[in-house]
Amino acid sequence: MKSIYFILVNLFITLCILSSQVQSFDFFYFVQQWLPALCDKKAACCYPTTGKPALDFGIHGLWPVYNNHTFPSNCNGNSPFDENQILDLMSDMQKDWPTLACPKNNGKKFWAHEWNKHGTCSLSMLDMHSYFQVTLALKVKVNLLQVLKNAGTNI
Ligand SMILES: *[C@@H]1O[C@H](CO)[C@@H](O)[C@H](O)[C@H]1NC(C)=O
Repeated sequence: MKSIYFILVNLFITLCILSSQVQSFDFFYFVQQWLPALCDKKAACCYPTTGKPALDFGIHGLWPVYNNHTFPSNCNGNSPFDENQILDLMSDMQKDWPTLACPKNNGKKFWAHEWNKHGTCSLSMLDMHSYFQVTLALKVKVNLLQVLKNAGTNI
C-alpha cells in the first residue's frame, strides 16, 4: 500500500484539450494529491484547523498549461484571491481541497496561492468563482479513489 502512495503523489491528469485563439493556454492539468503520502514525505504535516481530511485524494489545483508542458503563472495581479466570492463553496473547499501545510490553518493561504499562481491564467475562461466551482466539480466527476477501488486497488 505504501508504494501506491508514492506513485500517486501529485498524479497529473490531463483532462481536456482546449485550443482556441482567445485562450492564453492550451489545456489544464487537474492535479490531485494523495494526502497520506504528503504526510509521509513532508517532515511537517498539519491537519487543517477545520478538521482531519478523509482518506482520499485532495485537490492540489487546476493548472492552465501550454502544449509544451510549461505553464504560465501569476497572470493577473489585479485579481487577488477574495474568499467572499466563494463563500458558497467553502464547505466543499474544506472537504476536497484541504491544506496540510504547517502551521495548521484553514486553507485560505493554499487556495490564494493556487488562484494567484494558476487560476489567474485561466481568467480568459473562468472567473474566480467558476475556477473554484469547476475544479470542485471535476473532483467529483473524476473520483480517482473510486476508479482505483473499481480496479481492485486495496486502499
Ligand atoms: C512554451 O509555449 C509557450 C506558449 O506558446 C511559450 O511562450 C514558451 O516560450 C514555450 N516554452 C518553451 C520552453 O518552449
